[in-house]
Amino acid sequence: MDEPHTTASERAATALRAPRRVVVGVAGSIAAYKVPFVIRLLRQAGHEVKVVATESALRFIGAPALAAVSGQTVSTGVFDDPAAVEHVAVAEWAELVLVAPASADLLARVRAGRADDLLTATILTTEAPVVLAPAMHTQMWLNPATRDNVTVLRERGLTVIDPDSGRLTGRDSGLGRLPEPEQIVSRALAILRQPEHQDDDVASAETTGSLEGRHVVVSAGGTREPIDPVRYLGNRSSGRQGCALAAAAAEQGARVTLVQAHVASELLDALPPGVAVIAAGTASDMLHAVREVARDADAVIMAAAVADYRPLTVAATKIKKQASTVSDHRSGPTMSIELTTNPDILTGLVTDPPRAGQIVVGFAAETGDDDGDVLFHGAVKARRKRAHLLAVNAVGEDLGFGDVPNAVVVLDGQGSEVARGQGSKMDIARLLIGLTADLVNGS
Ligand code: C5P
Repeated sequence: MDEPHTTASERAATALRAPRRVVVGVAGSIAAYKVPFVIRLLRQAGHEVKVVATESALRFIGAPALAAVSGQTVSTGVFDDPAAVEHVAVAEWAELVLVAPASADLLARVRAGRADDLLTATILTTEAPVVLAPAMHTQMWLNPATRDNVTVLRERGLTVIDPDSGRLTGRDSGLGRLPEPEQIVSRALAILRQPEHQDDDVASAETTGSLEGRHVVVSAGGTREPIDPVRYLGNRSSGRQGCALAAAAAEQGARVTLVQAHVASELLDALPPGVAVIAAGTASDMLHAVREVARDADAVIMAAAVADYRPLTVAATKIKKQASTVSDHRSGPTMSIELTTNPDILTGLVTDPPRAGQIVVGFAAETGDDDGDVLFHGAVKARRKRAHLLAVNAVGEDLGFGDVPNAVVVLDGQGSEVARGQGSKMDIARLLIGLTADLVNGS
C-alpha cells in the first residue's frame, strides 16, 4: 500500500529499482546492429532481457553477439525446443515485449495475427504490453499497406514508436530510421511505469502528477562563447540530460520551459508536446533567458554546461593565422586569447532568486585529482553554490557526456548525500524530478 507520507523521490527511486523481465524481439533490418545498445541500456537499468530474433534478423546480427550482450541464449523458431513450448513460456515470462527494429514484414505479420516464428507467436500469446520500434525505408513506411498496419496495431493497443528521420541504408535519407537506443528504451520503460502495467506494490509506488500546476525551468546543452565571427569556445555537452529532465518534469504534470544552448534538433523534436523551448547561445544569453522565464518558476534546474569564461573581446573579423617561420612545422608562433569570467547563473539564482522560495538544482561534472575524489569535489561545490540539490557525476571517457548511461550522487546545499542513482539519462531525470517535486511540495 502507498503510505501517505511516501515522498515523490522515494516513489521514483522504487520505480527506478524495480527490475522487469523484457523480451527484446529483433526483426530483419540493417538497424539490428543497434539492438545490442538497447539490450545494454535495459540491463544497465537492472532489467532482465531475453532475445527472440527472427531468421532474417540473424542475417544482420549474429546470435552469439545477442546472447553475449543479453546473458541468455537467443531463441528463433517455435521448434527450437518444442518440449518447452517456448512461445507460451516466453510470452508468460515477459512483462514487456519490445521489438527493435520492427521491419515492415514483421508489422504486417503481427497485424495479420501470424504465428509462423517464435517472435510473432510470442506477440500473439503474450498479455504483456508490446512496443514496436519500426525501421525501414521511407517508401515502405509511407506505403498505404504499412500505414494501415500501424493504424490497426495502435487501435489494438500495441505501441508503435514513430521512426526518426535521417540517414538510411545506402545514400538516401528520410523518415524510417530506427530511433536512438536511449529513446527506444525510455519510451518502452515509460509504458512499464504506467499503473496498469505495474505489480501492485510498484504501482502504488509510482509518481503521478506531483508537479501538476507548477512551472519548471530547465537549461540544457552547452554554451558557445565567440572568439571571432567563425570561432568559439565550447564544450561537449549534448543536452540529453536536460531534455530528459524536461520530459520527466512534463511527465509529472509540470509546465516546462527549456532554455537550450546548441542542442541538436532531433533531441528538441523528441520533447513532449507542450514543452516551451527558448534558444540561448552564450552564457550571457542564457543568464538573461533563464532569469526572465524563472520569474514565475517553482523550480529551476541548471543542466546546461555554461562556459565559466569567455573571450574578453570578440574580434570583428576572422583572426588571421600568423605565418610560421619554423621549417619543421612542429611549433610556431603562439597566440593567446584573454578570457574573462562569465556570471555564474546558478549561484545568482540562489543568492538573488527571480521568485522567492523557488527550488534551484545544479549539476557538477567532476573528475577526481590529488586533492580528493569526485564526491569530495562535489561536496565542496555544493557548499559553495548552495543550490537546494546538486547532482554530481563523474566525467570520464564513457560516462556523463553524449548517448551513454549516467550515474549521479545527489547532494544538498550542505554537501550531504540525499540520493544516488544510475541508469539512462531518463532514469536519472526521473529521480531528480522526484527529489525536486518533494522540495517544491514541501515534503
Ligand atoms: O562550477 P561548475 O561549472 O561545475 O557548476 C556547474 C553548475 O553550475 C551547473 O548546474 C551549471 O549549469 C551551473 N553554471 C552556471 N553558470 C556558469 C557556470 C555553471 O549556472 N557560469
